[in-house]
Amino acid sequence: MATTAEYGLGPFTYPRGWFMVAEASEVEDGKVLPLRFFGTELALYRGQSGNLVLLDAICPHMGTNIARNTTSYVVLDGQVEGDSVRCPYHGWRFGADGRCDDIPYHDGPIPPKARLTKWQVEERYGCVWAWHDPEGGAPEYDLPAVPEWDDSAWVHWTIDHLGELDCHPQEVLDNMADAPHLGPIHGSTLAYFENELRDHVIIQRQGGGHRTLAADNTLLETDTFYTGPGILLSRLTGFYEALMLITHTPVDDGRIKAWHALLVKSENAVATEEDVATARGFQESSRLAFLQDFEVWSAKAPVFQILQIKSDGPFHKVREWYKQFYNPREEAAGRQEKMNGKYFTPWLEPAPDAVVAKGRY
Ligand code: FES
Ligand SMILES: [Fe+2]
Repeated sequence: MATTAEYGLGPFTYPRGWFMVAEASEVEDGKVLPLRFFGTELALYRGQSGNLVLLDAICPHMGTNIARNTTSYVVLDGQVEGDSVRCPYHGWRFGADGRCDDIPYHDGPIPPKARLTKWQVEERYGCVWAWHDPEGGAPEYDLPAVPEWDDSAWVHWTIDHLGELDCHPQEVLDNMADAPHLGPIHGSTLAYFENELRDHVIIQRQGGGHRTLAADNTLLETDTFYTGPGILLSRLTGFYEALMLITHTPVDDGRIKAWHALLVKSENAVATEEDVATARGFQESSRLAFLQDFEVWSAKAPVFQILQIKSDGPFHKVREWYKQFYNPREEAAGRQEKMNGKYFTPWLEPAPDAVVAKGRY
């Protein structure tokens, strides 16, 4: 696996930001979902208050993974108590704040080191998001707003689990600047293409024909943006108005897990069952279009230095922008200020003003 160090991104192995860690429906009441992200074993569960709790999974007592057990009587009898969770091995119990709050066979004081790291989580749009910060700070930006989610004309997405991939997330981010792949991979003809860097957001505005997502001679316009290093949303017009989610989270250094989903607008004030069926079909076309990129990533060699020609997109700018998440937070504002602005691909038109004005990031 190609590592963050080999890409020379910065001192942190994993980037700072909001990341998807699970689909909300994967968390079953009373059960602990085992996860692995950022090279760390994690435990996700819903406390009896209804709140989700995400903790490091390795018990500080003797190293048991509290989320990967199916046979202990602690697990069989119900591991979740209130918003706390018990370790399968000796039954130590940890609260939603990660502190051990009960050792069943011990009356004395509980050692302060008996605690699990607690992660900040948000449940939104059918997904569970976690804030990762190598420096342990609070979120410095919000999850992206998706007003379409609360509009009954829009059909909610189902989440496509794309699985894990031995590919450093840098290679996925490169795609934001990559106009010349749109023809060969997606069958697009390009009318316009531009990038903009705006603090923790990177934008790609693109319009053109598309073989799979738009009818002959109609324009597929996509207004695509990452909020931080891991969450891509794309507002698109093709056969339907839609909002695509592509999100990826580091599992280990050089390995990611990815998901895809699509919200689709129906022509009715309240989407009908027929609209839902249509939306599912369009989501499937969208998933297949994304898998065209995925296939390349799953087999390509890592590229630490792109053999970049003048007519390529501004890969080097994207890579420079991306570094902010691998470096101390106190440097982020300075890095953003240096990089903010629009970047163009020489042989392509910039986006029309009307398209730029519509953007919601
Ligand atoms: S290893 Fe977890 S309670 Fe002993
Ligand atoms: Fe692509």
